[in-house]
Amino acid sequence: MKFEKRILCIGAGFVGGPTAAMIACKCPRYRVTVVDTNKEKIAQWNSAALPVYEPGLDEIVKEARGRNLFFDTDIPGGIRENDVIFVCVNTPTKSFGAGAGMAADLQYWEKTARQILEHARSPKIVVEKSTFPVKTALAMERILNSRNDGVRFDVLSNPEFLAEGTAVRDMEVPDRVLIGSRDSAEGYRARDVLVEIYANWVPREKILTSNIWSSELAKLAANLFLAQRVSTINAVSAVCEKTEADVTEVARIVGMDGRIGPRFLNASIGFGGSCFKKDILNLVYLCRHEGLAEVADYFEAVVRINEYQKERFVLNMLEAMFNTLAGKRVCLFGFAFKANTSDTRESPAIYVAQRLLEEKAEVVVTDPRALENAKTDLKGLAGKVSYVKDPYKAASGCQAIAVMTEWDLYRGLDYGRIFKRMVKPAFIFDGRNILDHELCHEVGFNVYPVGKPGLTHFA
Ligand code: UDX
Repeated sequence: MKFEKRILCIGAGFVGGPTAAMIACKCPRYRVTVVDTNKEKIAQWNSAALPVYEPGLDEIVKEARGRNLFFDTDIPGGIRENDVIFVCVNTPTKSFGAGAGMAADLQYWEKTARQILEHARSPKIVVEKSTFPVKTALAMERILNSRNDGVRFDVLSNPEFLAEGTAVRDMEVPDRVLIGSRDSAEGYRARDVLVEIYANWVPREKILTSNIWSSELAKLAANLFLAQRVSTINAVSAVCEKTEADVTEVARIVGMDGRIGPRFLNASIGFGGSCFKKDILNLVYLCRHEGLAEVADYFEAVVRINEYQKERFVLNMLEAMFNTLAGKRVCLFGFAFKANTSDTRESPAIYVAQRLLEEKAEVVVTDPRALENAKTDLKGLAGKVSYVKDPYKAASGCQAIAVMTEWDLYRGLDYGRIFKRMVKPAFIFDGRNILDHELCHEVGFNVYPVGKPGLTHFA
């Protein structure tokens, strides 16, 4: 069959795989290939057990795989044979040298740019899909256009706004699709090719176009705004705990202001995930570099409050449990950074587990999807950690449960049954405010939510 367009995604991770699957599903006339150097990952994408757990992803991969969706390790071949190349490689925070702990590590990105340069024999549209620091497209253009054999490269910015756990829905009915291009005839031509791809399923009015730098910055700014909301409500939760106000009530009241809106106002143990912290620190680094110290400090406070919230949670546990956790078994309900994903990157549960171990507590981790990742995250830490899939068994013999992830599963458990098998006095620290606190209290627990008064049986 002759395909109308040939599209390549370089990088078979959380962004590349689902993006390619969605395009392939919605556009049977296009051939979409995902390539990655990681053979194991590609083999998983070609198997029944995908490397990424996302509701609805299995179905769309199954529909398109082998028809017009392919997973492969041949990067040079992929570059030669495709006209539109989405770059979906990861850009973690740099762990070495200048900007360590703040700036983005662009080595995978640059390697990809050089591979494209080396293997391309015909014009390519190169699309930045991963979140990159502002002005990365410029560097990409410079590398790609360093060859003077007339092969043309156009670089576009098309940041991904999908959230994990809802990735398929977010891609299928996005709030908006953003395409940044150069303000030139060539830039607009390349932009229109990408608009045409998305227009197969996204209404035109939701496809926004902008200049390339606005597009790069908008992605970072969007994550800053979202993370800022979480840090703000978490900071408010600290005040609530000192004043007997209830953060859920405060959030509901505040959120009913149409200018503020109700979403993303759930107080928690802190935000996690691969994006928020990384993107904010990227902005902080950019600001410092550009001499915007005040702005950098302001943005950085969002991350500082997040660290503070995690530590505050542990200190609250310590205080409630009579100022010692040594030798006590604590069960973490959930390890993923949010529900409906197996992803544990930057999960607050990692920090809490580490701190509990430092306090010489014994940690039991349970999670319906993330136990394997939890094992990797906690490998090598001194202390006793065990991993138990069944939450009833996991909590048995523990003195405390700490809810780390808002899995629906935890709302529906029989807390009376759990209480009976725990060491008394038994505690619940609900880091997500998802449980029925009154009910848990009634069956015997001492209950400590985030940002609201605790319910205890102590005089
Ligand atoms: C985020 C952005 O939402 C997405 O647009 C971007 O493309 C990538 O980064 P993601 O990291 O997958 O997506 O998850 P998100 O739903 O944004 O949650 C991030 C963290 O904030 C999670 O740990 C979540 O539990 C926490 N959170 C979110 C809260 O603590 N309270 C809230 O009210 C909302």
